[in-house]
Amino acid sequence: MMNGFGKVAVLLGGKSGEREVSLKSGAAVLNALQAQGIQAESFDPATRPLHDLEQYDAAFICLHGRFGEDGSIQGALEFFGIPYTGSGVMASAIGMDKWRTKLIWRALGISTPAFEVVDQDSDFLAIEKKLGLPLFVKPANEGSSIGITKVKIGGGLKAAYDLAAQSDPLVIAEQYVGAGEYTVGIVGEKVLPIVRIVPANDFYDFEAKYLRDDTQYLCPCGLPLEQEAKIQSEALEAFRAIGGTAWGRVDFLMDEVGKHYFLEVNTSPGMTDHSLVPMAAKAAGISFEDLVKDILSLAIAQHGVKTLVG
Ligand SMILES: Nc1ncnc2c1ncn2[C@@H]1O[C@H](COP(=O)(O)OP(=O)(O)O)[C@@H](O)[C@H]1O
Ligand SMILES: [Mg+2]
Repeated sequence: MMNGFGKVAVLLGGKSGEREVSLKSGAAVLNALQAQGIQAESFDPATRPLHDLEQYDAAFICLHGRFGEDGSIQGALEFFGIPYTGSGVMASAIGMDKWRTKLIWRALGISTPAFEVVDQDSDFLAIEKKLGLPLFVKPANEGSSIGITKVKIGGGLKAAYDLAAQSDPLVIAEQYVGAGEYTVGIVGEKVLPIVRIVPANDFYDFEAKYLRDDTQYLCPCGLPLEQEAKIQSEALEAFRAIGGTAWGRVDFLMDEVGKHYFLEVNTSPGMTDHSLVPMAAKAAGISFEDLVKDILSLAIAQHGVKTLVG
């Protein structure tokens, strides 16, 4: 096997709401692998039968959202015996589900904003009262801020629920934590420097993430070093709590008195060359190419080389 990796499939596109973003991540990763002499090809599971994957020695997952980040493609790769990047089936499935992630964190005493499950029979006004306004409403299984509403005015929860429910039947309402948004990248045992995100919009919505160029990313993030170190180790704990392995990203919010709340885990974060993990890696002196190679190496370290099915 050339370079010890053999023929690598870069999984990109897919059929989730985050297809377009995934195509960009995948293209950047493909480039970085090929630039290092690694034999890599793109593979879009939305357009090819999955069993074609059997020709490959390893898979670099650049899919985001459902069927890519939720354990389903990971399960197929387990079945084919192909080593793949990122977390396994269970952690991917839990990480995709914001409600179950938060249940685990709450059980372990890991700080996360207060939340309630919302359904069509909920007492909407009672939930607004309990969590306070503004509050956030989101589909439990989605990404890229799709289906999310910041409810600012009393009586707004119902409409926000209806929108979120279009993406997923499981919808949560969450207490607003509004004094800062941050993210922590994890690669192997390494926790990368924290990045602060300052959206020019009201929150870090789809537009702020992908379309606008006035979202600010601060790294160093401005937190006192001691606090940053403490949150970094808690972020790793929060990642491990859902079973996360190899690499990923944990996001958190800060309130007015400097208390942090973990928001969500991304087990297959964006990998365009201006995405958050590559940005944090760069601040730690790790180039995009090295990052991509490190993530691929972790796949082999975790799963061993390809095995034969049956
Ligand atoms: N409880 C909250 N308080 C403040 N802002 C929030 C809250 N929940 C979500 N947001 C804002 O919405 C964005 C998207 O929410 P998130 O839960 O991360 O979903 P996604 O998986 O779509 O990224 C966050 O990056 C943040 O800007
Ligand atoms: Mg998010």
